[in-house]
Amino acid sequence: MKLVVLGACGGIGQTLSLLLRTNALIDELVLYDVVDPVGVATDLSHIPTRQKIRHFCPLSKTDDSQLRMALQDANVVVIPAGIPRKPGMSRDDLFNINASIVQQLVKVYGEICPEAFLAIISNPVNSTVPIAAEQLRSQNCFHPERLFGITTLDSLRLEQFLGELTGEWDVQGQVYTVGGHSGETIVPVLGNWRLRLSPEQIKGLVNRVRYAGDEVVQAKQGKGSATLSMAAAANRFLCGILRAICTGETVDEVAFVNVSRLKADDCFVREMMHKVEFFGVPISLGPEGVAKVKSLGSLSADEKEAISHSLPTLCAQIAKGARFVKESK
Ligand code: NAD
Ligand code: LMR
Repeated sequence: MKLVVLGACGGIGQTLSLLLRTNALIDELVLYDVVDPVGVATDLSHIPTRQKIRHFCPLSKTDDSQLRMALQDANVVVIPAGIPRKPGMSRDDLFNINASIVQQLVKVYGEICPEAFLAIISNPVNSTVPIAAEQLRSQNCFHPERLFGITTLDSLRLEQFLGELTGEWDVQGQVYTVGGHSGETIVPVLGNWRLRLSPEQIKGLVNRVRYAGDEVVQAKQGKGSATLSMAAAANRFLCGILRAICTGETVDEVAFVNVSRLKADDCFVREMMHKVEFFGVPISLGPEGVAKVKSLGSLSADEKEAISHSLPTLCAQIAKGARFVKESK
């Protein structure tokens, strides 16, 4: 397995590369950044593992030969490249800069390794994933079952904050978030855990998960947003992808994916899939990518209402991403 990190010198990129360095399913770890990753790669190369580590950096502002080399024969590509928020900014305020970064990287991915699994971290995820899809469509190489926006951090936060309320932290898969990755588009799904909480606790928990990114941005006082927890989240997600590819096991994950042509067992999910092109949903992953959207189980009236309420904002952010690519042609 060859896994490529695009944006490997950043706060997320470095920590994620550290976590991936000891993953026995990865034969070759490739670090790419516009800031030369030689130092990060050399540092990581002293951690004993059979894994090969390589690094690439563009030779000039217009050079893409190094990116092409980095992506050659990749199986999995992850993109944490892009600027993070400062206090007072929304994720959408990152659009103008990050949209072009993601589009340029995805264009070369489409030329070199369009069959690889592609996971996007760069914000605003609700728009950068549609940007990637539209760019790949324009190159006739879009594989919707292999494009993912990583929303795992929202589920990690939900697990942690629920643990703080109940004393139970071993709840992975029992609670998760669906929808998008910003404010009210993040919809926590609590399953049976909702029976253990009061209405006030549920309200507080939902609100905290939705705005947890702001908590970190404010605490970091202008020095960026979540990096360590995000790296842990991306590592969890990528471990799932690697397991699905390498072992052929069906792996359950949650991600922001193109839902329009996926199979789904649940009629609520099928209904929603007609209304929105991309949505964060629980998925079953196989070696070819997303096999199907899993059932959301029995949702509360509030959860259903929150999903409906998230759709107009989400649709507008998705359309903004697609429009950006169409207008850049
Ligand atoms: P950072 O500034 O620390 O790192 C970004 C890295 O990207 C830098 O090393 C930079 O040199 C690199 N980069 C910029 N343009 C590039 C290009 N064209 N090609 C390759 N590399 C390039 O930022 P960070 O804190 O690591 O955050 C990165 C992104 O992840 C931000 O957009 C942030 O909002 C987002 N994020 C998403 C989530 C999520 O849940 N999906 C969580 C946290 C952060
Ligand atoms: C997060 O949720 O922490 C990330 O999306 C970063 C941010 O800007 O909040």
